[in-house]
Amino acid sequence: MPPVRVLVDMDGVLADFEASFLRLYRSRHPQLPYVALDERRGFSVEAQYRQLNPGLAADFVRNIYGSPNFFLDLVPIPGAVEAMQEMFSLNETEVFICTSPILKYEYCVKEKYAWVEKHLGPQFVQRLVMSRDKTIVSADLLIDDKVDIKGVEPNPSWEHIVFTCWHNRHTELEPHRRRLESWSDDWKAIIDGKRRE
Ligand code: TMP
Ligand code: MG
Repeated sequence: MPPVRVLVDMDGVLADFEASFLRLYRSRHPQLPYVALDERRGFSVEAQYRQLNPGLAADFVRNIYGSPNFFLDLVPIPGAVEAMQEMFSLNETEVFICTSPILKYEYCVKEKYAWVEKHLGPQFVQRLVMSRDKTIVSADLLIDDKVDIKGVEPNPSWEHIVFTCWHNRHTELEPHRRRLESWSDDWKAIIDGKRRE
């Protein structure tokens, strides 16, 4: 049987983008209203901040994650590093990281590589796929916090497993779709299930 190939997203799944964003936003703009983590709804931070404060320049939000060291300093999601090492060592399993860089790529792209090397080690630097379109990357599974993943390929090869995080915990999914609630959840059972399909 061929190995099971798994793509694991970075922001919101391996690295805590939302917590760092909020910390930096509040320290830069202590006088402005903010969205608490348990009030987050929908993938886009920008969209929710604009709703909260229509006068807010988009740059206020974008400048936070366009800043040097933002992506490098993201804190790992609990259990993520351990899960990735374990997944890497599983027989008949190919694991890759699949992440979308921001268009203001100067710091983001380099720092994503550096983050992977720092927290996961050089074996994962070889397994980092950056694409704004994940539908063209082929795999059996994609573990990703973004609920709607769209791109040029209408029928991606992977099954999307929604990784639960602040912005999607209230989102109702169609009955056939599956979640991984956290890295304490049984991700191995999901991979093993694919071996039997
Ligand atoms: P991904 O986790 O789906 O790969 O995408 C994360 C990328 O999206 C990351 O580079 C930051 C970017 N992003 C925005 O551009 N705006 C947003 O509001 C959010 C939440 C992320
Ligand atoms: Mg993500």
